[in-house]
Amino acid sequence: MQNFLLLLSYLIGSISFIVGLKMLSHPDTARKGNLYAAVGMSIAIFATIFLYTDESGQHLGNYLWIFGGLIIGTAIGTMMAKKVQMTAMPQMVSLFNGMGGACAAIISIVEFKHLMHQQSSHDIGGSITQLLSTIIESVTTTPSNPKLTLLTILVGLVIGTVSFFGSMIAFGKLNGNINDKTLPAQQVVNIGLLLVIVGLIVVMLTGTTGLSLPVLFWSLFAISALYGILFVMPIGGADMPVVISLLNSFTGVAAACGGFLYHNPVMLTGGILVGSAGTILTILMCKAMNRSLTNVIVGAFGGNKTGGAATESGGAYKEISMSDTAVLMAYSKRVVIVPGYGLAVAQAQHTCHELEKVLEEKGVELTYAIHPVAGRMPGHMNVLLAEADVPYEKLKEMEEINPEFAQTDVVLILGANDVVNPAAKNDPSSPIYGMPILEVENATHVIVNKRSMKPGYAGIENALFYQPKTSMLFGDAKKVLQDLVSELKGM
Ligand code: TAP
Repeated sequence: MQNFLLLLSYLIGSISFIVGLKMLSHPDTARKGNLYAAVGMSIAIFATIFLYTDESGQHLGNYLWIFGGLIIGTAIGTMMAKKVQMTAMPQMVSLFNGMGGACAAIISIVEFKHLMHQQSSHDIGGSITQLLSTIIESVTTTPSNPKLTLLTILVGLVIGTVSFFGSMIAFGKLNGNINDKTLPAQQVVNIGLLLVIVGLIVVMLTGTTGLSLPVLFWSLFAISALYGILFVMPIGGADMPVVISLLNSFTGVAAACGGFLYHNPVMLTGGILVGSAGTILTILMCKAMNRSLTNVIVGAFGGNKTGGAATESGGAYKEISMSDTAVLMAYSKRVVIVPGYGLAVAQAQHTCHELEKVLEEKGVELTYAIHPVAGRMPGHMNVLLAEADVPYEKLKEMEEINPEFAQTDVVLILGANDVVNPAAKNDPSSPIYGMPILEVENATHVIVNKRSMKPGYAGIENALFYQPKTSMLFGDAKKVLQDLVSELKGM
């Protein structure tokens, strides 16, 4: 009966995780989806704590440690999640992801010690051919074979350790505590470390050195930690969301290794889903920036700013006053707002929603144009505007809004830069060439709000700011929007 309930809880956990993940794909259902997945996982966790028994019929025990950890972790996590600013979200994700990696690595460390107690190293050695046949045999028959267990432990250790140390460096960089640093011949060093990691795993599985397994195991841990640090260190700070998404998928794979070790279906399902979702997200982010993953990792633009025609001045631009902006917008039929990273920095989403309401009262039709990589993390603008209760139907994706700019009277760009840069279409020498952009230059008037003529994330000049139909409205987005709203209300 106990076993049946345990399996049932795993089934509930797995299903709620899959359903929850599906619901995360739409802002209307995302909160509920998160809740379903969390409740399902909690059921599986508590069922494991209370119902699981080992071969000798013993329960887990150690309840003080387990619940002490759960209570302290929940309190810290809740406090951090409540306090975090929208702009600091990538750091937070990185930190939490690092914890997942650390858990996976700790599982491997514990299980390695366990395995060492159960088996002599003699049982584990053997040729590569033997190992491969063991893997095939174990997959088709029973998975409890010491060599396969060791392989799973080692893969979990490497991936979890890389993910933990990489995420900590990513956190430090996003938080401004660590600068981008590149060692001489960094790529060669990194490839060398990867080869050593693979070599150590092979040596451990085949037992081809006289060294003891624990010595090799801890060396593998140290080298994986070093690789995690050196892999993330040179990557530009602003490219970190892509790297975090990649590390997130690593953590998923490491957790799946844990699921495999413990024959735990819910851990396996969760790990595989996180691993594949992270990989898909990484690919989508790279595609939306028109960059390959290698390009992100080597850092062609972003923190390192090695990109092409970068920051020379683009000539004369014109400014617009607040009252002229208000008049132009109030007498427009269609207005499109383009939110960008600057809107998030200024925390101007609520004032932006207020502007939307004031304009709609004046009979203006207003929508938002959402670029897939506007801001600094996937869905940044959707979440930001949802927080201010902007109706979801007003948010239009790039493919949907681009053909509509030609019928738009005014486009108001709020702290966005790269995502509206025409160089992505017109200038093959530009580092962002090929990145799909919001084609705002097709509208009748373009008003750009930012604080200066400084470039955005890609560090390049934006010719849009110098076009005859473009006017600059300088200032902090929140202040500008507040002034604009009061100007409109006074009209
Ligand atoms: P950016 O190109 O970074 O431009 C943001 C602009 O906001 C800056 O030019 C800045 O100009 C302005 N700004 C900053 N603070 C402001 C404030 N308080 N008030 C008003 N304006 C302010 O942003 P974007 O157009 O959203 O493009 C996103 C970039 O990030 C893309 O290059 C994308 O590839 C990259 N990226 C995105 C992601 C994801 S998934 N979203 C992941 C990695 C990289 P001033 O300094 O002059 O004010």
